[in-house]
Amino acid sequence: MEMYKDILVNTVYLIASFLFIFGIKMLSSPTKARKGNFYSAVGMFLAVVVTLLNEHILTYEYILIGIVIGSAIGSVLALKVEMTAMPQMVGLLNGFGGGASALVGLTEYFQILDPTVTRVEEFTIKMAITIALSIIIGGITFTGSLVAFGKLQGIVSGNVIKFPLQHPLNLLLLVGVFGLMVVGAIYPTDQTIFLVILGISLLLGILLVIPIGGADMPVAISLLNSYSGIAASATGFVIDNNMLIIAGALVGASGIILTNIMCKAMNRSLLNVVMGGWGQNAAAEASSGTKKEVIVKSIDSEEAAMIFSAASSVMVIPGYGMAVAQAQHAVKELMDVLNKKGCDVKFAIHPVAGRMPGHMNILLAESNVPYEKLYALEDINEEFTNTDISLIIGANDVVNPAARNNPASPIYGMPILNADHSKTVIIIKRSMAAGYAGIDNELFYNQNTLMYFGDAKEAINKLNNELKNLS
Ligand code: TAP
Repeated sequence: MEMYKDILVNTVYLIASFLFIFGIKMLSSPTKARKGNFYSAVGMFLAVVVTLLNEHILTYEYILIGIVIGSAIGSVLALKVEMTAMPQMVGLLNGFGGGASALVGLTEYFQILDPTVTRVEEFTIKMAITIALSIIIGGITFTGSLVAFGKLQGIVSGNVIKFPLQHPLNLLLLVGVFGLMVVGAIYPTDQTIFLVILGISLLLGILLVIPIGGADMPVAISLLNSYSGIAASATGFVIDNNMLIIAGALVGASGIILTNIMCKAMNRSLLNVVMGGWGQNAAAEASSGTKKEVIVKSIDSEEAAMIFSAASSVMVIPGYGMAVAQAQHAVKELMDVLNKKGCDVKFAIHPVAGRMPGHMNILLAESNVPYEKLYALEDINEEFTNTDISLIIGANDVVNPAARNNPASPIYGMPILNADHSKTVIIIKRSMAAGYAGIDNELFYNQNTLMYFGDAKEAINKLNNELKNLS
């Protein structure tokens, strides 16, 4: 009977794993992403149900209470959180995942040591090491994610926090904690060792994340997401649960791939982020000091409408400001109005436009902009030279030519959209203020650039009305 149950549980775990993998694969295409999410959710549901049927569960009451409280808090947060606050929300959830892994590791440890709890397993070296790994990676993820959340939420200073001998200290603690893991494997019943491991891991999480500046924080969050997966995987080995091992490994691997993509798109080195601001250049401070005294050309909605009515191709470049202003529906309307006039409208999406991966795609999909009108940087960058108007909506860093031609700039080397190569550039933003990187943008002062100041949603609505009046 026990054997059949094991077979059933592991078969359902296998099906759930397939659903996870198919689901993640489908997330790479906007048309299939919703279905992919659904398949993964079904996989998780199956995995949870079959785990709850397992008779190793000691009490259902606590699980039920946990599910009710957790679901209530989760649902309220999911409904209330703004799209722009999603990175810190993800950060917080990673932290809870890491914390849960560390707690499960600790609980297992004390249960094994408790003579009143009957356990069949021997306290093997494998157990000691996997428990220590759950505590180390889970602990680092927990406090690291809380600091990352605090920085993005403005509770903790978003600045790079540095002190003397910071990196040698971090290295010492890192080597020390893994050294203690080996000692713990030799003397597994010594509780002090495991508690010290927990203490150092929690401290390391804080120390590794405080030197990371606000600009790199979303990359750090993606990395912590990967850590939370690795911690869950280690915990899967502790409690001998195949599902947790597989799901953790998937999160760990996809998190690290995403981190790498973000690093490339922002021209950051992964090692720099992993080591917590190691070798961060001073260019950011150097470049933000000088302000240009150059006149920019500004236009109003009427003038903008005249220019658009003469255009036959428009490339929209959305950025963070479009998300803040929630201008995506107005942008879709603009697209329809221009299409009616025979003007071709395309969207050029930078990989790190906005504040999280896929930010712009999600918003534009929400307003029913057809997927085939959305182009990735590498597929569209050549087309700017043949474009009449580049319409930049609340974007800044992702079109800043300093990334191409100013080696002192903190964004130097980051691939940018070639908006400046088009015949006319129209920029919608509220002021001359800098974007996320905190640096000036020479594109605003170019001969072919026109600034159309205003909140993105209001400005586009006005433009739409003017264009309709013209026809
Ligand atoms: P940013 O460079 O951050 O510029 C956004 C611009 O939007 C600002 O200059 C702001 O100017 C304008 N804005 C704000 N509110 C607005 C509103 N209501 N209406 C109109 N404009 C408004 O944005 P971006 O070009 O999308 O670049 C993204 C930045 O975030 C990059 O530096 C990137 O490295 C960083 N980042 C992205 C990610 C991901 S994964 N997407 C992750 C980490 C970091 P005003 O104040 O003058 O209006």
